Amino acid sequence: MNDDNRPQIVVHALGKTFTLHNQGGMSVPVFSGVELEVLPGECVVLSGVSGVGKSTMLRSIYGNYVPSHGSVEVWHDHAYLDITTASPHVTLDVRRRTMGYVSQFLRVIPRISTLHLVMEPLLENGVDADDARARAENVLERLHLPRALWQLPPATFSGGEQQRVNIARVMVRDYPIVLLDEPTASLDADNRSVVVDLMKTALARGTAMVGIFHDEGVRGAVATRLFDVARFKAAA
Ligand SMILES: Nc1ncnc2c1ncn2[C@@H]1O[C@H](COP(=O)(O)OP(=O)(O)OP(=O)(O)O)[C@@H](O)[C@H]1O
Ligand SMILES: [Mg+2]
Repeated sequence: MNDDNRPQIVVHALGKTFTLHNQGGMSVPVFSGVELEVLPGECVVLSGVSGVGKSTMLRSIYGNYVPSHGSVEVWHDHAYLDITTASPHVTLDVRRRTMGYVSQFLRVIPRISTLHLVMEPLLENGVDADDARARAENVLERLHLPRALWQLPPATFSGGEQQRVNIARVMVRDYPIVLLDEPTASLDADNRSVVVDLMKTALARGTAMVGIFHDEGVRGAVATRLFDVARFKAAA
């Protein structure tokens, strides 16, 4: 197998049970025994009813939740690395160079202009300022974010505007892995189709994606396969 088509994500025996310390240590089992490999150019869509554990699985892959069992290996820097046991320093490096995440809501960073927020992931990776600016402007324009807003911090933006900044920050980079949790939930049809185009471009380039999309149209346009999280429901 050459470097180009090896799985970018290898999830093995993954299980998650939350322990609620403020509820007398009550356990909430979510899933167990999850096996998943994601190849370059694949878009695996997590499916299953609300509460089945889709977001929990995505956050476990991103290294936000420490799982109760199993491993999540990501192809980073020419080797597999288990994100579930990586140090915070290594996790940050994976997020900076290898794995982007579009959450449903923007974690607002105060007082930084929108344009700079979108340029930042490029600047951090050594792209020069002019090139970073041109690429950031291009993606903001494609997402129809009014030019008048580019110099403002996104704190006061509408839900859909913030969501587009969030998407722009990830899609401006060519990450080998992109995770998306309902990225189009508060977008109108026009902007949804722009996001679909951005995702298709990234997939054609070989990005490995795992996403959650409730919108049937988006799902149908980008999914290369569905992954039913309910099959791995952990016993209560
Ligand atoms: N931080 C947490 N602490 C405790 N329990 C949690 C936590 N996060 C999620 N859960 C529980 O884990 C289960 C799965 O939640 P999750 O958010 O992954 O579901 P989901 O499939 O993404 O649902 P939705 O489609 O509604 O977004 C739920 O029962 C939820 O209450
Ligand atoms: Mg969810």
